[in-house]
Amino acid sequence: MARVRRRVARMAAWSVTGLLIVAGVAAATAVGVPSAPKALRPIPRIVGGADAPAGVFPFMAALQQWEGDGYLTICGGTLIAPDEVLTAAHCVDQWAVGQATAGGQPRERVIVGRTVLSSGDGSVRLPEAIRVDPTWDSATETDDAAVLQLDAPVGGVSTPTLPVSGNRGYERPGAPAVTVGWGSTQPQGPTDVGGGVYPDELRQVSLPLVGDGPCQGVFDGKRNPALFPKVMLCAGGDGHHDACTGDSGGPLLTALAGGGWELIGITSWGNGCAVPGTPGVFTRLSAPEIHDFVATSGGSVAFGP
Ligand code: ARG
Repeated sequence: MARVRRRVARMAAWSVTGLLIVAGVAAATAVGVPSAPKALRPIPRIVGGADAPAGVFPFMAALQQWEGDGYLTICGGTLIAPDEVLTAAHCVDQWAVGQATAGGQPRERVIVGRTVLSSGDGSVRLPEAIRVDPTWDSATETDDAAVLQLDAPVGGVSTPTLPVSGNRGYERPGAPAVTVGWGSTQPQGPTDVGGGVYPDELRQVSLPLVGDGPCQGVFDGKRNPALFPKVMLCAGGDGHHDACTGDSGGPLLTALAGGGWELIGITSWGNGCAVPGTPGVFTRLSAPEIHDFVATSGGSVAFGP
């Protein structure tokens, strides 16, 4: 169990390469990034989220790996077509199709429609094909996207729509977005590796979107390489609410006026978790190169409105 957690944690730690020198958290505060509220929050944990009621995120997927004595949820994902789950490239780059453990269990699996991990709810599927964005670069975390083709469709789930290519209309700075996941509920310093507290219950948190300029200001000179806003979108930064280790691959969503959700991002990386002045970073789904990658998967993914 620890092995995978360590691997996920390594990703999180990697993303702060270059920050170790500037360790000052205050240095990350930039104009336009929400500052920490003055009043102390009663529960300053992950990310300050709340339980996600069953049925609100029916498209949410848990990506699991067999760890000898059971399955460990390593990442999130989003059902974007009945037989396709969108996730982060760094979640599944080690996955392989058709691998079984010594005991005969599938090495990796995907669950859609489960809120409480320990329950038997939802549909269990196996990846039949794994498509990692061919331009994903683990060194810079650019184009952190992958599509899992499931071995059988999951029926009856209303999936979120994705932005049409180049449409940043859902990314107004300050607008609220929501991210969900089973990742760690504990804040984490920029240099912390490992640890974390992992909930059984799916958690949700609302995060204001952060403009490209301010977000670039946070990471420029502190992370090397810095942020690439063309394919990365920032949200949060108040020091109380954030995604964290284990949330990777999960959705960043905005609620549509007419009901339903627009999927605007994939949880990708951060500098610690809930560090004041430091937003979380998400793969930008409106970016033409990311859009094209998702669209060429050939499935019935809905773009729009
Ligand atoms: N890379 C992390 C993972 O593998 C997700 C990091 C998100 N961190 C954040 N502070 N928003 O789960």
